[in-house]
Amino acid sequence: MESEATRKVALLAVKILRLRDREMESIILLYSAFCALLLVILLIKKWRSSLQRPTLPPGSMGLPYVGETLLLYSQNPDTFFATRQKRYGEIFKTHILGCPCVMLGSPEAIRYVLVTQAHLFKPTYPKSKEKLIGPSALFFHHGDYHTRMRKLFQPSFSQNVIRNLIPQIEAIATCALDSMSCTGKVVNTFHEMKKFTFEVAVLSIFGYLDTSYKEMLKKNYHVLDRGYNSFSIRLPGSSYTKSVTARRRLDQILCEIIEKRREKKRVDDEKDDLLGRLMNFKDEKYGKYLTDYQIADNVIGVLFAAQDTTASLLTWILKYIHDDSKLLEAVKEEQKVIYEANDRGQRGLTRAQTRNMPLTDRVIMESLRMANVISFTFREAVEDVEYNGFLIPKGWKVLPLFRNLHHNPHFFTDPHVFDPSRFEVGHKPNTFMPFGNGVHACPGNEVAKLEILILIHHLVNKFRWEVVGSKNGVQYNPYPIPWRGLPAKFWKES
Ligand code: HEM
Repeated sequence: MESEATRKVALLAVKILRLRDREMESIILLYSAFCALLLVILLIKKWRSSLQRPTLPPGSMGLPYVGETLLLYSQNPDTFFATRQKRYGEIFKTHILGCPCVMLGSPEAIRYVLVTQAHLFKPTYPKSKEKLIGPSALFFHHGDYHTRMRKLFQPSFSQNVIRNLIPQIEAIATCALDSMSCTGKVVNTFHEMKKFTFEVAVLSIFGYLDTSYKEMLKKNYHVLDRGYNSFSIRLPGSSYTKSVTARRRLDQILCEIIEKRREKKRVDDEKDDLLGRLMNFKDEKYGKYLTDYQIADNVIGVLFAAQDTTASLLTWILKYIHDDSKLLEAVKEEQKVIYEANDRGQRGLTRAQTRNMPLTDRVIMESLRMANVISFTFREAVEDVEYNGFLIPKGWKVLPLFRNLHHNPHFFTDPHVFDPSRFEVGHKPNTFMPFGNGVHACPGNEVAKLEILILIHHLVNKFRWEVVGSKNGVQYNPYPIPWRGLPAKFWKES
């Protein structure tokens, strides 16, 4: 009896255990299914987010190491940029001079980099250029120091200050035109224009400057200038080595000029010129004045920014109006009225007159659009940036292509035709930026326009010129200039 009972209990126990096993199996099955579902959900999520992750813009990185550098330098750079924009769209990648780059050709993308998200992109220049110009120069900087220096620079180039320079700029223009026409020989127009723009830049920085100092600056700056575009190899006698030496001499000369001003206590009297403002500038944050070397870097920086850019534009203007006799006649007509009103130049130009030269003004605008003196600029992404679904990785160079805006038929009809009348009506916002845009936009644009208007006024009223040789074409210096600097003969009208 007892054993029968034990057997029944054992059977029951086995049944219960079997039942438990089955339950356990279903629990394990359920759990596994749940895990598998979770995994699938996670995988789908990952796949979807990988689809949404920004990708690099389209484009070609070219050959290993050299990238597309050889392609860029073996053709007109404008053709290089334009063909890529046509192939890949308004944002594309490439690899130039050892650097991965993203190039931008749409108004929105350029505005994003230069204006709305400018803090994400810092200016970048080759180290050799930074060394020759001086590391404290305004345009190498970003953020605090740059903002404070901009506040200091802007008033020196404002309408109110530069209006007082008109008589001196007129004297410099007349002198330059007399000197290039007196021999009757063919001159390199670009080189002559460089002499003029250098003198005006010196005037806008120093106001009055002793002739002996001006000559020393000119001589040494000329040597420095030749090194900007040379290979930065320090071999004895090379252009670069000579430039480095000239830059040191320029420091000494500028420190002496600063010291002389301090001795004469003329800082307060001349506080409107750039040198005076640099010397009086006390950094609110650190309570310190700029050192003489920081001042020197900024002076050299302005000479660099002002000279070749304005000379290149002037050379193009002279070519464009020379090649279009109707336009030249119309410009002469506009300028003659002012000349006559000033007793055939007996009285000087006024600011009101320089502001009322509408046709000449449009010629300047159209020349800026056509010639694209600054065809593009360089920035570097300070962190990974996502723009319109594209990734711009940290450290990559970013190049806003002003030229592509100015030659885009959607913004300027028949973009390759020189037609100043297109500026009689306004253009679409952010499509015309020859002086850049945003925090680094050119603070000297009014100076540039004023000196150009004054030179043209005297040129067309008192001189004639003839371009020698009919070869059209562009040379890069590195700014674009007409072929061989536009050889031409100038003479004074009797
Ligand atoms: C036709 C003549 C000129 C053109 C086309 C021109 C164009 C430009 C452009 C496009 C920039 C911005 C570059 C960038 O964003 O990276 C710039 C900056 C600058 N320009 Fe001009 N410029 C001209 C004449 C001048 C003159 C005459 C001066 C001085 C008197 C000057 C002083 C400067 C300075 C100091 C900067 C740096 C501004 C900064 O980084 O905050 N420029 N220029």
